[in-house]
Amino acid sequence: MKKIIAALSILILLHSQHSFAQSRITVIKAGKLVDPEKGEVLTNQVIIIDSNIITAVGPSLAIPKNAKVIDLSNATVLPGLIDCHTHLTTSPGSDYYADIFRKTPIDFAMIAPTYARKTLMAGFTTCRDVGVDVPAFIDISLRNAINNGDIEGPRMQCATMYIGATGSHADLNGFSPYLEWNVPEKMLGIANGIDGVREQVRYNIKYGADVIKFGASAGVLSEEESVGAPQYTQEEMNAIVDEAKLWGKKACAHAHGAEAIKMAVKSGVASVEHGSFLDEEGIKLMKEKGTYLVADIYNDDYIVSEYLKLGYPQKIVDKEKLVGRTQRENFQKAVQAGVKVAFGTDAGVYPHGDNGKQFRYMVKFGLTPMKAIQAATVNAADLLGWTNKVGSVSKNKFADIIAVEGNPVDDVTILEKVKFVMKDGVVYKNELNSKTAKQ
Ligand code: ARG
Repeated sequence: MKKIIAALSILILLHSQHSFAQSRITVIKAGKLVDPEKGEVLTNQVIIIDSNIITAVGPSLAIPKNAKVIDLSNATVLPGLIDCHTHLTTSPGSDYYADIFRKTPIDFAMIAPTYARKTLMAGFTTCRDVGVDVPAFIDISLRNAINNGDIEGPRMQCATMYIGATGSHADLNGFSPYLEWNVPEKMLGIANGIDGVREQVRYNIKYGADVIKFGASAGVLSEEESVGAPQYTQEEMNAIVDEAKLWGKKACAHAHGAEAIKMAVKSGVASVEHGSFLDEEGIKLMKEKGTYLVADIYNDDYIVSEYLKLGYPQKIVDKEKLVGRTQRENFQKAVQAGVKVAFGTDAGVYPHGDNGKQFRYMVKFGLTPMKAIQAATVNAADLLGWTNKVGSVSKNKFADIIAVEGNPVDDVTILEKVKFVMKDGVVYKNELNSKTAKQ
């Protein structure tokens, strides 16, 4: 009997030594904590994290023994930010013709991890990545490598190919018909007709799409003449959204033109991307259907100042001039009318990592700083269908946590300078004057 007790106590001792060496508990002391669910800034909060999951949040919680403590008492802590419209595999315009004709998918794949890392370091711990410019499913490989822990980057939902009609924004326009990509149209996302678009949705999902993106209207950064004309029929849009639903996926639509926006909303998309020429009727429909507006209202600054220098045709920059200002004004109208807004920037059109620059425009055009933060946290999580995982610093969610110096509710531009980034319980960046100590 004595022997058994002795053996047991050695076992218990070994076990406790083991748990001492491998304590998985991290505690963050937050001087201020933005709670986007309540729309409040809480003070002196303690966040307890077990490995990668938040297990408790509250004022003056007891700090577990052996926990690693990260003292952010002098900072404002927020949930990791979410960008609902990125292109992590797209190079921000560098040279128009070289980007189209001299690069292979491998060039894009080589640089994508760098873009993913920049995005994460800017405080964006989740992205909905809505379309690749080149075939080859690079977004899917990037997402998988990040999830495997091989590459540093945000959590990703991927659309893989943007689905578009022949000659649409998705297609190669403006060049000789003798020039064609040497890959099947399916790998380019080009699909027409009810059966064609349904098959394309299935194909995208077969190779890993989490979300379906299609082109309801023409676009800016392509050479078709119009920026706003519808590029699918109502029936085709309905079929895309319906097919996506069969497979349990949400759909979103690139739509600048007023008519195309309404058609997309009627088809049942979860979000309208860009929304530039949104009119009163469109606003009404979006409110009725609960459709999110994801408007990339920083983009215009970068395109207008840089794209001619990068060799983009004048007609593309002229199209941008038609869109930029109107888009911001219509965003404001939508906000005033109470349309649901989620944060999305079109990163990849402008340099990756500058995502936070859009906050100042969202505030300039109608949102309070808290509402802008909600657009990039709780609302974005809702749009992604990930409310149970991300979007707030709450019990049972992933430990995706950022911090800044100062209070972003007083000055939202502070979110352009994120100083601390934790994703999935791992600290990727800490430029704050914090003490990291074992208690
Ligand atoms: N990808 C979009 C398009 O080509 C970019 C639009 C950028 N302009 C803007 N004002 N949001 O249509």
